[in-house]
Amino acid sequence: MAQSRTTHSDPTQNETSHEDDQLCSNPQQNQEEQTSSSEVDVTTSLIGSPGKYLSGESRVERAWAHWNKLGRPKFMVAPMVDNSELPFRMLCRKYGATAAYTPMLHSRIFTESEKYRNEEFTTCKEDRPLFVQFCANDPDILLEAARRVEPYCDYVDINLGCPQRIARRGYYGAFLMDNLPLVKSLVEKLASNLHVPVSCKIRLFPKLEDTIKYAKMLEDAGCSLLAVHGRTRDEKDGKKIRANWNAIKAVKNELRIPVLANGNIRHMDDVQSLLEETGADGVLSAETLLENPALFAGYRTADWVAENEEDNVVGKLDQADLLVEYLKFCEKYPVPWRMIRSHVHKLLGDWFRIQPHVREDLNAQSRLTFEFLYNLVNQLRELGVKVPLYQKDTSAAQNSAEA
Ligand SMILES: Cc1cc2nc3c(=O)[nH]c(=O)nc-3n(C[C@H](O)[C@H](O)[C@H](O)COP(=O)(O)O)c2cc1C
Repeated sequence: MAQSRTTHSDPTQNETSHEDDQLCSNPQQNQEEQTSSSEVDVTTSLIGSPGKYLSGESRVERAWAHWNKLGRPKFMVAPMVDNSELPFRMLCRKYGATAAYTPMLHSRIFTESEKYRNEEFTTCKEDRPLFVQFCANDPDILLEAARRVEPYCDYVDINLGCPQRIARRGYYGAFLMDNLPLVKSLVEKLASNLHVPVSCKIRLFPKLEDTIKYAKMLEDAGCSLLAVHGRTRDEKDGKKIRANWNAIKAVKNELRIPVLANGNIRHMDDVQSLLEETGADGVLSAETLLENPALFAGYRTADWVAENEEDNVVGKLDQADLLVEYLKFCEKYPVPWRMIRSHVHKLLGDWFRIQPHVREDLNAQSRLTFEFLYNLVNQLRELGVKVPLYQKDTSAAQNSAEA
């Protein structure tokens, strides 16, 4: 039985072919609108000259100039392996996301395999601002991978936060917190050779002063933007362990470059609180966006509407509508079926709980088609399943303000 894969998959284990690893349609059909890094024309829009000879002060100024030029985006799609791929990013952008990260790409495999590059990194001209994230433990390999994507993105990001076993085995992500000289050399290598700025995404150390030292080291090494996930390497279960917003605030207070906050966003009220409490320049959301890609447009799932909350109204949108829009993006921008399967499970999780046999039907398909998935949505609707998304009734608030 085919299963949805929502955890970090191992790109190095991708050798065997599986139906779900096939692309959902022929990429040649959309070649004009879509780009992959194997077709790099390095003469296109590079942003500035490498920061090799810049002083710390000028680097900080440049970091802010770049951030301002991008329009100071506040609402980001977080990096998610197998889940923040181009069609999903485009869907989230349509519903209020103002920037997005690619899934983590494995720098070594990216340099070695054209197939990996073509399947795992696609983009298009509307897919900006874009952070392309790599995991790495070798500065030269990281630079080689980054050079392939720099014409297509606004930041090359280094994953310093993945806490999973696979990252321990591959020696990357949060396990590099045990080797800060290596981290420093990765950042320095990119900062002094790339035309686009370098960003990093980190987790916390158990001690606040270590986290701050770490963040300052990254800034000094040439990092132009830092995203802080407010949990430690050992705090893996985001659903059970609350992110530490105070620690994010402390990092923001100490750094001079833009800082993004990540952890525990369920709806737009959380976004506002996180921005206010930490002073961060923007936020990243992962888990919540998977269930509700319209989060940043102010929609929330029923879980976050209190029974007595009268200011929430049923929006005109639900997760099945969003799935249909997502599938249309997938038809335009092909991705492996495993990514699509994962989104179907996340988006329709509540719907399947009402009609579990529809999920069983989906799981029984070793090979998916768009026709099957559109029919699945129709079937749920015909069965009378309705799981609305809610929006705050801002017009009511406005009317009372005007009265
Ligand atoms: C399915 C999934 C895949 C993820 N993949 C990545 C990744 O590729 N790189 C990364 O830095 N973080 C990854 N993360 C972590 C998220 O970016 C984010 O830091 C974490 O989920 C906390 O944010 P949240 O509370 O909004 O979910 C992933 C999370 C999820 C749920």
